[in-house]
Amino acid sequence: MDLRDCFNFHDFRRLAQRRLPGPIFDYIDGAADDETTYRRNTEAFGSCDLVPRVLRGVESVDLSTIVMGHKLALPVYCSPTALQRLFHYEGERAVAAGAAKYGTMFGVSSLGTVSLEELRKAHDTPQIYQFYFHKDRGLNRAMLQRAKDARVDIMMLAVDSITGGNRERDLRTGFSIPFRLTLAGMMQFAMKPRWGINYLTHERFRLPQLDEHIDMSGGALSISRYFTEMLDPSMSWDDVAEMVRLWNGQFCLKGIMSAADAQRAAEIGCTGIVVSNHGGRQLDGSRASFDQLAEIIDAVGDRIDVLMDGGVQRATHLLKALSLGAKAVGVGRYYLFPLAAAGQAGVERALGLMKAELERDMKLMGCIAIGQLSRDNLRFR
Ligand code: LAC
Repeated sequence: MDLRDCFNFHDFRRLAQRRLPGPIFDYIDGAADDETTYRRNTEAFGSCDLVPRVLRGVESVDLSTIVMGHKLALPVYCSPTALQRLFHYEGERAVAAGAAKYGTMFGVSSLGTVSLEELRKAHDTPQIYQFYFHKDRGLNRAMLQRAKDARVDIMMLAVDSITGGNRERDLRTGFSIPFRLTLAGMMQFAMKPRWGINYLTHERFRLPQLDEHIDMSGGALSISRYFTEMLDPSMSWDDVAEMVRLWNGQFCLKGIMSAADAQRAAEIGCTGIVVSNHGGRQLDGSRASFDQLAEIIDAVGDRIDVLMDGGVQRATHLLKALSLGAKAVGVGRYYLFPLAAAGQAGVERALGLMKAELERDMKLMGCIAIGQLSRDNLRFR
């Protein structure tokens, strides 16, 4: 099996599983507790069906959309995710290049492995920065200023990660940075020598958004420990309102799940929100993003841009979210498995397949522009 045999999310996932050491695959694939929210995120799209229209002249389809002041050629974007060079040595470089090729935006995490500045120089496509709010307020101010200087387009503050989710797969394997694996975890690394050679023969693994500020040499840091020890659980609406003022640009909260919080985000001057439960990786039992989308759009959709992510594997999932009124939809694992499987070629194949699916499905729906999608296209069961 190789990249040419991959036609959908499940194919990419399987190829990534073959190529990655088990602990890394499980870090990407895993979620919190019993992983019910992770599964529900995708299943939720099955709670409604598309109602196509016909005979409407659909020879050419415009997939473009405007999100927080930026025109995108596609209504789907690469959500910010951590540690990408661990999955494939090209990491964020591959993801940014793939997003740029398809004219959409991409996110870089505070836990990213390539610097904001390098990616900005390489591509003009809109860049999101996923900001984690640290206990150290000086560090937050320095990170904000640096993102401004780097000309980040959209500041995206993660509000669902003030403590680490319970990711039991990572506990079992000992997944952490640097690696402090359990014996079982180590055996799984030994079984994937190709990944090991690539990891060791390319530029050293770093966290350039943070490593000037945080000493990573003092022992292994699991993602859960980073969240729990470094991030500030006292973060409040007042803190965010101050950040919004300081940033003075496109500012988005990622991890909003209630209409009340969406309203508050609009009131303090946010220009967007992402309805998201962090891919089911934080609070298990949280409602699926898609299930919460309609009521949140009803509450604030006329004032700010509502985006969503979680469980998206198909263009029909995009169609359903866009029909409810989402401005764009983020994907995470959907591009991470292809990245892990084949670097930039993998990311490009995944985005290319999604684009082709979307174009085909728009025609089958009888729509030639994203703005033509509406709730009339959907029936809930
Ligand atoms: C995660 C964080 C780092 O979900 O976004 O692992």
